[in-house]
Amino acid sequence: MHILTRRLVVPFMVAAFFAVIGTVAFADKASAEPFNQGPAKCSECHKAEAEIWSGTKHAKSFKTVHKADKAKALAKATGNKSMKKNETCVQCHYTLVAKEAGKKAKPKAGPSCESCHGASSDWFAIHNDYGGPSVKADQEDAAHKAGRKAQATAAGMRWPSDRYGIAENCNACHGLANPGVAGDKLAIMLDGGHPANANWEYVEYSQGSIRHQFYPPDMTTNGEMDGAALSRAFVIGQAAKLVSATAAMGNSDSAKYKEFQVARAAAARTALAGVDAAAALLADPTRDNAVALAAAIDGQDLSGAVGGMLPGTYK
Ligand code: HEC
Ligand code: HEC
Ligand code: HEC
Ligand code: HEC
Repeated sequence: MHILTRRLVVPFMVAAFFAVIGTVAFADKASAEPFNQGPAKCSECHKAEAEIWSGTKHAKSFKTVHKADKAKALAKATGNKSMKKNETCVQCHYTLVAKEAGKKAKPKAGPSCESCHGASSDWFAIHNDYGGPSVKADQEDAAHKAGRKAQATAAGMRWPSDRYGIAENCNACHGLANPGVAGDKLAIMLDGGHPANANWEYVEYSQGSIRHQFYPPDMTTNGEMDGAALSRAFVIGQAAKLVSATAAMGNSDSAKYKEFQVARAAAARTALAGVDAAAALLADPTRDNAVALAAAIDGQDLSGAVGGMLPGTYK
C-alpha cells in the first residue's frame, strides 16, 4: 500500500506540475480584461431591446454630452479636455469597445447593453450555445440553460434575475462611486459642478425610458412590474445605494464628496427604516447583508412598508 502510494506520487507530481504550467498559460489568456463588443453586436438578435435603448438618454448622450455646459471645463480640469479621451469621463459616460483582446478600447457609444449586462467578450460564445450548433434557443433543456447561466455569470454576464447586481451597477455610475475613478478626480468633478443626485432612486430611473421586459410567454410586449415587484425593486435599489454610499465615503478626501455619500446613505436608511428584513443591513451595511435581504424578500409584497414612497412618474 505504502509502496504503491510512493510509486504513484512521482508521476502524480509530474502530472500536477504540467497541469499547473497548463493552467498558468491558460489563465494568462483568460485573465486578460474582458472587453465590450458594443451594442451593435447585441442588436443583431435583440431588436426590441435595441430599439428601446436607442431612444434613451444613455444612447443619445453619445452625440451631445461633450457639448453640454461645463463638459469641456470639467474634462480639462481632470486631465484631457476631450471627454472621449479623458480617462475619468469615459468610465461612466461611454461604452469602450475593443475589436479583440489587447487592442485599445475606444468610446463607441454612451452607456449601453454591456454597461449593464457586463462586458461580453468572455460570455458571448456561451450565451449563444443552447446545446450544440443545431439546437435553437427555444429547444434548450432546463439543465443546459442552468449550466449556461452559471458559466456565463462566471464569465461576467449580469443577468436580469440578478436584481441586486443590476441595481448595484447603476449605483456605481449614478452614485459617483465607480471604482475605476480616482478619488482626486471625483473631488475635482464635484468642485467643478458635475451633477450629483443624492436622491437617485432605482425604480424612478429604471421603469421609464430604459425599461425593457420582453419575457416569455409574450415576448413582443414590453412588460411592466406589478406593485409587489415594484416594492421589491425599490427595497433592493435602496439596499444597493446604502452599500454603495457607505463604501464610497472613503473614496476621496473631498469634504463635498463625503457629504454627498453621507446624504445618499441617509436617504437609503430613511427609505428602509420600515422594512423588517432590512434590520441586519441597516446595522451593518455590507454587500453580503444586502444580497441576503434581496433573497429574503423574494416573491414578497412590501407595498405596506414602502408603497407610499414609490415614485409616481419615471425618468
Ligand atoms: C445570436 C443571437 C444573440 C446575440 C448576438 C445576443 N443574444 Fe442575448 N439572448 C439571445 C436569446 C435567444 C436569448 C433568450 C434565451 C436566453 O435566455 O438566453 C437571449 C437572452 C438574453 C438576456 C436575458 C437572459 C434571461 O433569460 O434573463 C440578456 C440580458 C441578453 N440576452 C443580453 C445580451 C447582450 C448584452 C448581448 C450583446 C453582448 C446579447 N445578448 C447578444 C440571443 C442573442
Ligand atoms: C462616476 C461616474 C461618472 C463620471 C466619472 C463622470 N460622470 Fe458625468 N455624469 C454621470 C451621471 C450618472 C450623470 C447624470 C446625472 C443625473 O442625471 O443625475 C452625469 C452627467 C454629466 C453631465 C450633465 C449631462 C447633461 O446632459 O446635461 C455632464 C456635462 C457630465 N456628466 C460631464 C462629465 C465629464 C466632463 C466627466 C469627466 C471629467 C464626467 N462627467 C465624469 C456620471 C459620471
Ligand atoms: C441601463 C442598464 C441597461 C442597459 C443599457 C440595457 N439593459 Fe437590458 N436589462 C436591464 C435591466 C434592469 C433588465 C431587467 C428588466 C426587469 O426584468 O426588470 C434588463 C433585461 C434585459 C433582457 C431580458 C428582458 C428582455 O427585455 O428581453 C434582455 C434580453 C436585455 N436586457 C438585453 C439588453 C440589450 C440587448 C441591451 C442593449 C441594446 C440592453 N439590454 C441594455 C438593464 C439594462
Ligand atoms: C456606465 C455608467 C452608467 C450605468 C451603469 C448606468 N447609467 Fe444611467 N446614466 C449614465 C450617465 C452618464 C447618464 C447621463 C447621460 C447624460 O445626461 O448625458 C445616465 C442617465 C440615465 C437616465 C436619464 C436620466 C434623465 O434625467 O433623463 C436614466 C433614466 C438612467 N441613466 C437610468 C439608469 C439605470 C436604471 C441604470 C441601471 C439599470 C443605469 N442608468 C446605469 C451612466 C450610467
